[in-house]
Amino acid sequence: MLMQTVYTKPFDGQRPGTSGLRKKVNVFQQPHYLANFVQAVFDSIGDFHGQTLVVGGDGRFYNREAIQIILKMAAANGFGKVLVGQGGILSTPAASCVIRKHQAYGGLILSASHNPAGPDEDFGIKYNIGNGGPAPEQITEAMYARTLDIDHYKIADCDDVDLDQTGSFVLAGMQVEVIDPVSDYAALMQSLFDFDAISKLLASGFSMKFDAMHAVTGPYATAILEGLLGAPAGTVMNGEPKEDFGGGHPDPNLTYAHELVEIMYGDDAPAFGAASDGDGDRNMILGDHFFVTPSDSLAVLAANATLAPGYAGGIAGVARSMPTSAAADRVAASMGLPCFETPTGWKFFGNLMDAGKVTLCGEESFGTGSNHVREKDGLWAVLFWLNILAVRNEPVADILKKHWQQFGRNYYSRHDYEGVDSVAAEAVLEQVRDQFATLPGTMLAGRRISACDDFSYTDPVDGSVSRNQGVRVLFEDGSRMIFRLSGTGTSGATIRLYLESYEADSSKHGLDAQDALADMIVAASRLSGLIDRTGRDKPTVIT
Ligand code: G6P
Ligand code: ZN
Repeated sequence: MLMQTVYTKPFDGQRPGTSGLRKKVNVFQQPHYLANFVQAVFDSIGDFHGQTLVVGGDGRFYNREAIQIILKMAAANGFGKVLVGQGGILSTPAASCVIRKHQAYGGLILSASHNPAGPDEDFGIKYNIGNGGPAPEQITEAMYARTLDIDHYKIADCDDVDLDQTGSFVLAGMQVEVIDPVSDYAALMQSLFDFDAISKLLASGFSMKFDAMHAVTGPYATAILEGLLGAPAGTVMNGEPKEDFGGGHPDPNLTYAHELVEIMYGDDAPAFGAASDGDGDRNMILGDHFFVTPSDSLAVLAANATLAPGYAGGIAGVARSMPTSAAADRVAASMGLPCFETPTGWKFFGNLMDAGKVTLCGEESFGTGSNHVREKDGLWAVLFWLNILAVRNEPVADILKKHWQQFGRNYYSRHDYEGVDSVAAEAVLEQVRDQFATLPGTMLAGRRISACDDFSYTDPVDGSVSRNQGVRVLFEDGSRMIFRLSGTGTSGATIRLYLESYEADSSKHGLDAQDALADMIVAASRLSGLIDRTGRDKPTVIT
């Protein structure tokens, strides 16, 4: 078998974040572009000779072409074995599961998460290490440095691999196993949740809908919900993964998952609805005419964790990103558990999970997960909810109402101002910072301000410090206003305004969050000069 050394030149801009390298498809289609990056990854991850690599993606346009290049390069670079999902499919949490289960050296996940897919849209690639989580920054920075001086890459000169049949074969001296993308993941879910109880619930006439949004969770949800759990055919909607995600924007929130939202707020709404994103790591949970905020979802899972067999022995602790509401903190406090507040980004949970400090983690950005893998996990959250519903046998709305009665309600909303001028966005945060010295002790929106700061986090495991993670105005009653610039926006800047107001009195738990937070919303925009500085009179997206 011929191993080729191909001479190449560096490309600009191949710096991966912890969610990898994301670019338009036509950037990746340039000759040598992907190969350069893959070689830079292989040159930065240590000695993997004879070891196993996991490869798969969310099925978006260019997934299959990318996998052919990666397999041939893995062979030429000395991997002993590649496990690749059939059809090139592996959801992000499933890839994390397969890496851990098969003690792989690492994995390459091909995805741009919820970003639209297709020839004119986005593609992405990221490397996960042996614990199943995204490569830490020292490694991604080493990859970037390598992309700047790369002058050749190694690739086997052989025919393309048939990705559509499961089975094993040898490619240029390397073992390739095309695996069922669902089975390892499904087995892990069966080890965590009471599938018998969920099957009985589904057989009892309990109705549900899962919206895979034409993306990667289709095969997982169909195999698990309709297959293993016996939900009626049609429970999974938009279940066929498409290379362009059906032209949609597979981000499970009230704006983009509107097809599901209309069903859940329509006549004869099912009892339970859920959706996941392009690569299967995000989730949205709905009841009949009822939206569960991601912050409340984390709190409910924590409070009810022991109802699921995988967590029956109790949980070690909970972690949430700073802008996520403090609903989970109240649960943790009542259970005597530690609760960690981290900066935005799933990567900050990795150390806490590896050190055994936390079991459950969640973010307001529709991410929930546990130490079963090292990524957030959409379908896991759905199964966890189904397990709780099967045991409690109550509507979703009643579970939330009782939860609020017990712990109080953290009214919560996020207002996004997308595509704002970057200078204006910085100025909004700066205007709040300028008042840090004078605000504490004063009244705003009927509440007394207790403190203001720029959120800073010291990782309790490795001592690393992350500063400037969001501008906070904190109130004595537990209410909060947070101003933060998105780290994932694509054009201009996105200002995120997070609003939270704590209400202990259960007679006041029935309000719409926007109404309950109305005075906070007005006060936040006055305080920051948001409207004047951005020229926007209302947010682009409200979640
Ligand atoms: C990605 C990350 C999440 C993060 C989210 C929001 O999905 O995986 O961990 O919470 O982006 O980031 P942003 O900076 O846009 O608020
Ligand atoms: Zn995602």
